[in-house]
Amino acid sequence: MDMDIRITKTNSSRIDGVDFDNLPFGRLFSDHMFMAEYKDGQWQNFRIEPFKSFSLHPATMALHYGQEIFEGMKATKTLDGKPYLFRPEMHAKRLNKSAARMCMPEFPEDMFLKALHTLIDLDQGWIPPREGSALYIRPTMIATDEFIGVKPSDSYLFFIFTCPVGPYYPKPVKLLAETKYVRAVLGGTGEAKAAGNYAGALLPAKLAQEKGYDQVLWLDAREFKYIQESGTMNIFFVIDNKVITPPLYGTILKGVTRDSIIRLLRDAGHEVEEYPITIDELVEAYKAGKLQESFGAGTAAVVSHVSEITYKDFHMVLPPVEERKIGPFAKATIDGMRAGKIEDPYDWMVPVKSPSPATVA
Ligand code: COI
Repeated sequence: MDMDIRITKTNSSRIDGVDFDNLPFGRLFSDHMFMAEYKDGQWQNFRIEPFKSFSLHPATMALHYGQEIFEGMKATKTLDGKPYLFRPEMHAKRLNKSAARMCMPEFPEDMFLKALHTLIDLDQGWIPPREGSALYIRPTMIATDEFIGVKPSDSYLFFIFTCPVGPYYPKPVKLLAETKYVRAVLGGTGEAKAAGNYAGALLPAKLAQEKGYDQVLWLDAREFKYIQESGTMNIFFVIDNKVITPPLYGTILKGVTRDSIIRLLRDAGHEVEEYPITIDELVEAYKAGKLQESFGAGTAAVVSHVSEITYKDFHMVLPPVEERKIGPFAKATIDGMRAGKIEDPYDWMVPVKSPSPATVA
């Protein structure tokens, strides 16, 4: 479907005030955003405007019944200064799977990609130059009917804005296996990237943080036995030289970084198993001295070193970072590909192009 994007450029860029060497995660926003509305059964009014707040009616349905989905993706610049997106088609597909689960309209993939390319082309000056930093991209869809009553909304707002970011976890992460609360059940919404999944995780994460941990390690909702994912990322373990990550049960997020790591580790000759590992097996492996590494994987987190895991009263301190090989290799490969220092044999890095036609106001 063709989509004409009306572009209104800012006449007061904020970029000169940004310290690209010290980027907090998610607090700085670039100059422009893409917006479109879904009305009368179709997407319309495609535009890129200066980044701004918008007002919502108090009865806006997203605020009451949680029809809200989003994506998290990244743009980086290679050494020659060219902007690239990382696996944008996979994010487009995941967004639409989330939309289907939350009874929301799809945003067609070709339109999503055009919006993304046009926006990132325009704000490419906001892509941080430093390896390990990136322009984090947040496509979001919300239900906008002004109505109090539970039904799927008939109207929606889709928008994309971006933030220059440094690492989400600047330090190693300590995890507490959660034995009271659950994130998702089979048949629930755990696989969708939906706001409610994150809201439900806030209390357990806060309680874990009060005990000195950074995040929770989720277990399955039926038996509190099978490891699922961590608060903001998928989880990997290295046990006896084998890389293990929980399978996509239908309860955990289908991570783009998770998928990329599995592929690149296998291609580098590592044994990687998507295996329904239990927390008891993890403890046994630790006691036997076989738990060599653990790391989280996510768009924001990239590859984050897990330094400690506690289950009930059993405290597992993992080997120091110098003794780890696989997590650091995965991180260096992904960061290196994004910076254009390491060859990308998978075509995951998609050059940003300036698609036409786009009307500039
Ligand atoms: C992402 O990794 O993109 C997420 O949405 C996680 C969030 C904690 C920033």
